[in-house]
Amino acid sequence: MGFPKDFLWGAATAANQYEGGYVSGGKGLSVQDTVTGGDGIHGIPRMISIKYADGTTGELPLKFGSEIPSGASAYVDENKYYPSHVATDFYHHWKEDIALFGEMGFKSFRLSLNWTRIFPNGDEEQPNEEGLKFYDQIFDECAKYGIEPFVSMNHFDCPLHLATKYDGWANRKVVDFFMKYVETILTRYKGKVKYWMTFNEINFCRGYQMIGITEAESNEQKLNQAIHHILIASAKAVKLTHEIDPENKVGMMLAYLLSYANTCNPDDVLAEIDFSREIKDFYLDIQCRGYYPNYKIKEFERKGIVLEKEEDDDQVLMDGTVDYIAFSYYNSHVISATPVGESAGGNHMMGIKNPYLESSEWSWGIDPKGLRVALNKLWNTYQKPLMIVENGLGAKDTVAEDGAIHDTYRIDFLRKHIVEMEKAICEDGVELIGYQAWSAIDIVSAGTGEMRKRYGFIYVDKDDDGNGTLARIRKDSFYWYKKVIASNGEDLE
Ligand code: BG6
Repeated sequence: MGFPKDFLWGAATAANQYEGGYVSGGKGLSVQDTVTGGDGIHGIPRMISIKYADGTTGELPLKFGSEIPSGASAYVDENKYYPSHVATDFYHHWKEDIALFGEMGFKSFRLSLNWTRIFPNGDEEQPNEEGLKFYDQIFDECAKYGIEPFVSMNHFDCPLHLATKYDGWANRKVVDFFMKYVETILTRYKGKVKYWMTFNEINFCRGYQMIGITEAESNEQKLNQAIHHILIASAKAVKLTHEIDPENKVGMMLAYLLSYANTCNPDDVLAEIDFSREIKDFYLDIQCRGYYPNYKIKEFERKGIVLEKEEDDDQVLMDGTVDYIAFSYYNSHVISATPVGESAGGNHMMGIKNPYLESSEWSWGIDPKGLRVALNKLWNTYQKPLMIVENGLGAKDTVAEDGAIHDTYRIDFLRKHIVEMEKAICEDGVELIGYQAWSAIDIVSAGTGEMRKRYGFIYVDKDDDGNGTLARIRKDSFYWYKKVIASNGEDLE
């Protein structure tokens, strides 16, 4: 009983929320570098804000076709605050941070690579050597501590130049640019990285901030075409990952939005099925089975959506099925056929509030048993090894007078989820290869740009406006997780 002996305990991060160094070492601008802070902070909304060489400024949505002048720092507005520019500065703290991960006993560490650190504009012929070297150091440092890197090729990240010149993923050419980047990193890090994931939360790769396309919400034809390009790119990346090193394992990464029907009224049940298909099953079906499911084909027929496909696209999808399913799990969703009840909060949350659950400070319903449900549903449907690559609690932490951070609420959240995870493995026979909490260390919130919404085991001294020393402090959860890992999940107290 208990967790498998080689269970991959660890935690996760994402480049645009953690790395900083946004124009250091030859890095180019990514769309995320043009997103300002602000959501809920001082009542200012977040926006995409950019300054052109002629001094004019643009705000969301950016003009498609805008020419980007050279000199990356010319493209952001110095009067605005952009959280990704420094983030929590992994760029300058990587040695110290990885040492702390080693001290916690991490077996694995998930990070994403900044596409624009390697191809600053996205469409160059040659990669940026300095950017490649940056990640060499990271992987070498992880190896010193016996930490297995899990690399997301793309975490809500699109070079700004690809957005403004090509309209991002709406343009098929971006598949080729992406594949050049993928081939570069797979070749360079062969032997250093074994576990790969293609697109973070592929079911939320939509909209300007994520994939650099305009009109994403209003033009379903265009959005579905862009999603098709992303699925093709993912499948090609899977195939190439195996070709470059047959030892590699490559997974898809999904936001697992577990949903419950509000009542046993068949209309609610059907509404939940529709929700599930739209928001997650489609991505799972296509990446695990290799073809568009019938319900999607029917939906396209009903809506008059016709995808432009290249001749071998169907084969590409078939040849690019994944080795494992990586997913994030934060909360669950209640779906009703009719608008009833209070609407719920959550990451990418839809649906209504679940009266059986407690909520986080950000109103996300806390549902540890839902994790067991999710694991069972995924395993029973696809029979592919599973990997939890995000699970955690966003909360406001305070530094106590003794200088410590007593985050018992976080420990409680994680403990309850780990208990359910163990049941899924030991009682239900689910094949789960590892667990990565979100996040290894405090990083900027993806949804709101806030710093005060913290997830990490390590506190970083920085506030919502970007002030702070960036000093690192171990939270109580740091010592707790260290014990959990050392006891392979036996000691959860
Ligand atoms: C996931 C993303 O959706 O949720 C992460 O993959 C994100 O990038 C995490 O940080 C938590 O969401 P948020 O908005 O609280 O940062």
